[in-house]
Amino acid sequence: MSGYYWFEGIPFPSRGFQKEIIEEVRDKFVIGDEDIIILAYPKSGTNWLIQIVCLIQTKGNPEWVQSVPTWKRSPWIESNGGFQNLTNKERPYQISSHLPFHLFPRTFFSSKAKMIYVIRNPRDVLVSGYYYWSKTKFAKNPESLTTYFEWFLKGNVPYGSWFEHTRGWLSMRKCENFLLLSYEDMKKDTRRTIEKICDFLGKKLEPDELDMVLHYSSFQAMKENKMSNYSLLKKEIVADGFVFLRKGTTGDWKNHFTVAQTEAFDKVFQEKMAGFPPGLFPWE
Ligand code: A3P
Repeated sequence: MSGYYWFEGIPFPSRGFQKEIIEEVRDKFVIGDEDIIILAYPKSGTNWLIQIVCLIQTKGNPEWVQSVPTWKRSPWIESNGGFQNLTNKERPYQISSHLPFHLFPRTFFSSKAKMIYVIRNPRDVLVSGYYYWSKTKFAKNPESLTTYFEWFLKGNVPYGSWFEHTRGWLSMRKCENFLLLSYEDMKKDTRRTIEKICDFLGKKLEPDELDMVLHYSSFQAMKENKMSNYSLLKKEIVADGFVFLRKGTTGDWKNHFTVAQTEAFDKVFQEKMAGFPPGLFPWE
């Protein structure tokens, strides 16, 4: 399928990726014990989590998140630009990534670096992805949700199959240096999630600092902040009507899926995600 940059069977966006970097990241990049990694399948709340972690680092002071774009504060290690931005920084790194488990830097698996991993109902991931990839020129544009639905179930979307990606990373869920979060829990109780992240990172915030983190990472604040709302993307990359902070809700899939799609998705989910304990997926 064209419109993607294929690497070892995984479709990457067609802009900004190259084999040499992806290989170097996997085989040679050294993750430091003090590095913090934010990992998610695209459209799961990656940017929200990045914003929260950045604000925890500054104890709620918004200066950094209001003056430096997300992709420079917490670069995506696997992209050409992200790799360059990251390696120009001083350690410890704050790293973002959408890489599947098997392509992530090997050195991570014997390091003490902390990874925060966020999952989201894949039905909402699908809908969010449909709008995002339709309105940007990073990868193949689906002409309809029906088309994108089929691609998603087959894994012919950026970063490949949600099911495989998620199975891969969930294998780490019992590791000490791995914090599993869900978009649904973040929405339900954002303050509690921020506290959990602070505990995991060994950071202590005063109540008013936590209020500031909460405030500046809110949907509205991020939507109004040009350093986090992607309004800085070049005009030739986005189509009319592109909005990065689109709805920010849970369950939007119900406004989009037909009954037949709902049933087909349930069947695939049950087959592919069999074996995980009940309760692991808060949306099921
Ligand atoms: P929707 O398209 O459903 O609105 P990612 O950062 O992984 O690409 O995920 C993007 C999704 O997270 C989008 O979902 C976006 O609106 C949502 N999002 C980003 N910031 C958020 C925030 N502060 N609160 C709630 N949702 C947020």
